[in-house]
Amino acid sequence: MPSVIGQVTVGVEVMVDGLTKSFGRQVIWEDVSLTLPAGEISVLLGPSGTGKSVFLKTMVGLLRPDRGHIWIDGFDLANCAEAKLYELRRLFGVLFQDGALFGSLNLYDNIAFPLREHTRKNEAQVRQIVMEKVELVGLLGAETKLPGEISGGMRKRAGLARALVLDPEIILFDEPDSGLDPVRTAILNQLIVDINAEIEATFLIVTHDINTARTVPDNIGLMFRRELVMFGSREMLLSSDEPVVRQFLNARKHGPIGMSEEKDLSELEAEAQMGHDPGPLPPIPPQLMPSGNKIRRTQRPPGTWLAANGVIPPQGSFVDERGRNWLDEYPRLINAHMHGIA
Ligand SMILES: Nc1ncnc2c1ncn2[C@@H]1O[C@H](COP(=O)(O)OP(=O)(O)O)[C@@H](O)[C@H]1O
Ligand SMILES: [Mg+2]
Repeated sequence: MPSVIGQVTVGVEVMVDGLTKSFGRQVIWEDVSLTLPAGEISVLLGPSGTGKSVFLKTMVGLLRPDRGHIWIDGFDLANCAEAKLYELRRLFGVLFQDGALFGSLNLYDNIAFPLREHTRKNEAQVRQIVMEKVELVGLLGAETKLPGEISGGMRKRAGLARALVLDPEIILFDEPDSGLDPVRTAILNQLIVDINAEIEATFLIVTHDINTARTVPDNIGLMFRRELVMFGSREMLLSSDEPVVRQFLNARKHGPIGMSEEKDLSELEAEAQMGHDPGPLPPIPPQLMPSGNKIRRTQRPPGTWLAANGVIPPQGSFVDERGRNWLDEYPRLINAHMHGIA
């Protein structure tokens, strides 16, 4: 089932088409369509309560949508028989909000759990896989600790290791950065990018963190008022004039999104009369690159979408905190790779 190019597997594409979900008479979101490109990192943003977690649960088949399709490898996960659904679910790794670890099991047994449950591997094989993932997420030495004995950041790493043991093609992250301080969030984001470079699975990250949304993904989607307002390349969303998108991605106080999540109509109309002044567009930050001068296979050069659409980025775009401009730095890195010196 994995797509194989040469000897290297890449993640699979997921195509969501016209998806609608309601609970009773409450419509959560309607007619959501998007494509998660194989091997790319996508972020889903939106005010709390807009149904982002419900969306992730629908994608893995834990919830059934009212209408619509979720195409994976030619199969419709939203409408297939139970047996096929069970098979398709094996393609997914999910990192739930709190890590969802078993409190009475140590990290090793938590991470080994899916292998013991879903495979016939012997303990030596289990050990090899668990320790490989423990090392990948930077938890070597902490395997015998209980979830209650470690920090929130370590619990997220352990949850991530567990999501990785069945070698998923698609990984869904539900607010991996919630409850983490900015430094730990930055470290986790680097880990996510490094793991994507290493395993090349398709990633979808639900987050509230604007900095994560601005720097980590290839694509961004924004949910608001029961719909997916926009989904597309990071550069498209970061340069968008759409008031909701502009407000959310720049964490602005003024705009269509209010304290109550949803302002009432008269308030909105009054604001629309005054005109939304989206203000100047801030510089577009460079995308977070993998450690060690690696380049992800699905990486697009900085400025690709902007150039293709004739959009001139604001002054200071693509400049990192060390003052390097990635419009110049990226071709240099590619060149170094071609000559085997990166
Ligand atoms: N199993 C369920 N049954 C009924 N309502 C639900 C269920 N799960 C979530 N909801 C409702 O769906 C809405 C969206 O929830 P959620 O996906 O958790 O939002 P988000 O993750 O964006 O903060 C909320 O109003 C929530 O109460
Ligand atoms: Mg949620």
